[in-house]
Amino acid sequence: MAPPRIPLPHLLQLHQWVAHPLRFMEESARRYGDSFVMQFPNTPPFLFTRDLEMIRQVFTGKPEDLHVGPVNRVLEAVVGKHSLLLLDGQEHIQERRMMTPPFHGERMLAYGLSMRESASRSIDRWPRSGAFTLHEVFQDITLDIILKTVFGLSEGATLERFRELFVRMLNMGSANAVLYLSALLPAERLHRVLAVGRDPIQLGPVKADVSWALPWTQLSRLMREVDTYLFTEMERRHAEGVEKREDVLSMLMQARDEHGQPMSDQQLRDEAITLLAAGHETTATTLSWAFHFVLQHPEVEEKLRAELHQVAGTGPLAPEQVNRLEYLDATLKETLRLVPVAPAVGRVLQRPMKVGEWELPAGMAVMACSYLTHRRPDLWPEPERFNPERFMGKRPGPHEYFPFGGGARRCLGMAFANYEMRIVFAEVLRRVKLRPATPYAFRVARRGVTLTPEGGVPVVVESRS
Ligand code: HEM
Repeated sequence: MAPPRIPLPHLLQLHQWVAHPLRFMEESARRYGDSFVMQFPNTPPFLFTRDLEMIRQVFTGKPEDLHVGPVNRVLEAVVGKHSLLLLDGQEHIQERRMMTPPFHGERMLAYGLSMRESASRSIDRWPRSGAFTLHEVFQDITLDIILKTVFGLSEGATLERFRELFVRMLNMGSANAVLYLSALLPAERLHRVLAVGRDPIQLGPVKADVSWALPWTQLSRLMREVDTYLFTEMERRHAEGVEKREDVLSMLMQARDEHGQPMSDQQLRDEAITLLAAGHETTATTLSWAFHFVLQHPEVEEKLRAELHQVAGTGPLAPEQVNRLEYLDATLKETLRLVPVAPAVGRVLQRPMKVGEWELPAGMAVMACSYLTHRRPDLWPEPERFNPERFMGKRPGPHEYFPFGGGARRCLGMAFANYEMRIVFAEVLRRVKLRPATPYAFRVARRGVTLTPEGGVPVVVESRS
C-alpha cells in the first residue's frame, strides 16, 4: 500500500513549504491523516509522519538503511563534505565518536562561566529606553558563546572579524532563495552554483576572479575569508600546542580515531563550521520563542523568578546550580514542543522498506515530523496551550517528543544547548524585567531550515536590577 500524496504541482508544494511551512503541514495532516507525501521538483519524495511506530522505526533503524546525507546535501557548500551532517554509515559513526567527548553533559561546567559572561555583556548594552528585538540580541549572545567555547577565541580583533564574517555568511546561507534553489537544482548543480567564485575561473589563457559579478559568490568569498582565518588559527595552535586549551576545537584537534589518526585540518574546518551553523541560530531562536511565550504568561514568569531566587538568591547563577532550575527546564521544553526549531527530521531509505503500514521504495525520505507529533491531542491535551507544567516530573517518550531528533543522529549539541539556554535565560531574568513592545501575534518566519518568530520578538526593558 502507498501513502497518500499531496496532489498539487511540485512547484506549488515547494512554494507552500518554503513560504507557509506550518500551515502546509497542518492542512495536509487534516486532509490526508498521520502520513502524507510532499514532493518538490528535483528532490526525493518526502513522507511526513506523526505516526509513533513509524517514528520509532526511523530513529532505531540500521544506519546503513537510513541516510541523512541526501537530505542535508544543500548545506554542503557551507559546511563542507566532511561535515557530520552529511556523513552516513560507518563514516558517521566514527566521526561522531571523535566529536562526542566535548559535548558530554559533565563538560558543560567548563563552559558555564563563559556562557554567562557573554549574556551579561550583551545585557549591559541593551537600550535603556526604546524597543529592540530579542532574536537579534540572542543571536549576538549565542554567536559569542560559540566563538568562545567552540572556537576558543578570546575578546579582540580576531573575534570581532570572525563575528562579522559569520553573521554575514549565515544570513546569506539561510536566505529562502537558497531553499528554492536547493529544491530546483540537482544537488551537484547546486553545489557548483554556490561554489562558483571560490576559485578564479579560467577564461582562455587568463584566470579571472569573477566573484564580484555573481550574487552567490559573495557567500563563497565570505567563506573563503572564514577558511583563511580558521586554517591560520589551527596552524598557530598546532605550533603552540593545544593540551591546555578547554575549547571544543582544541579538543577535536586532540581526538584520535581507532587507528590513532587525528582529523585533518579540512575535517576540523568542516566540523567547526558545522557546529557554528547547527548551534547558533537554533539556540537563539528557541530563547526568543521562550521569551515570547513567557511574556504572554505572567504567571509563568513569576514562577521562574521565584525558582531562580530560591536556587541562586540575588546573585548570578553558578554553573553547578543550572540543573536545579527544573521549572525553567520545563519552560524551555514546552517552548520546543510548540515550536521545534527544525519541524521535521528526515532519513532517506537506502533500500525498499516497510515503514509502518506502507511499503516504501528506496530513495524516499521519511520525515519524523516533530511539529505535528508535538500537537497530537491524544498525547498532548490542549496542544496549543503553553503549559510548562506538562513537563514537571514527567519524561515523554523519545518518539512522542523529539525536538533534538533521535537515535544515533540525535543532536550532538543537546546538552550544550540545554545548558546554554538555561544560563542565558536565567541571566536575563536576573538582570532585567522585559515587556512586549507591541501586541505580538504568534507568527512564524522561515530562516533557512529553521523557524523563527516573525519580527524577532520586539521588547522594551521595563526595569533593571
Ligand atoms: C535549541 C537548540 C537546538 C536544537 C533544537 C537542535 C536540533 C537538532 C536536530 C533536530 C538535529 C537533527 C537530529 C536528527 O536528525 O535526528 C540536530 C543535529 C545536530 N545538532 Fe543540534 N540543535 C540545537 C543546538 C545545537 C548545538 C548548540 C549544537 C552544537 C554546538 C548542535 C549540533 C548539532 C550537530 C553536530 C548535529 C548533527 C548530529 C549528527 O548528525 O550526528 N545543535 N540538532
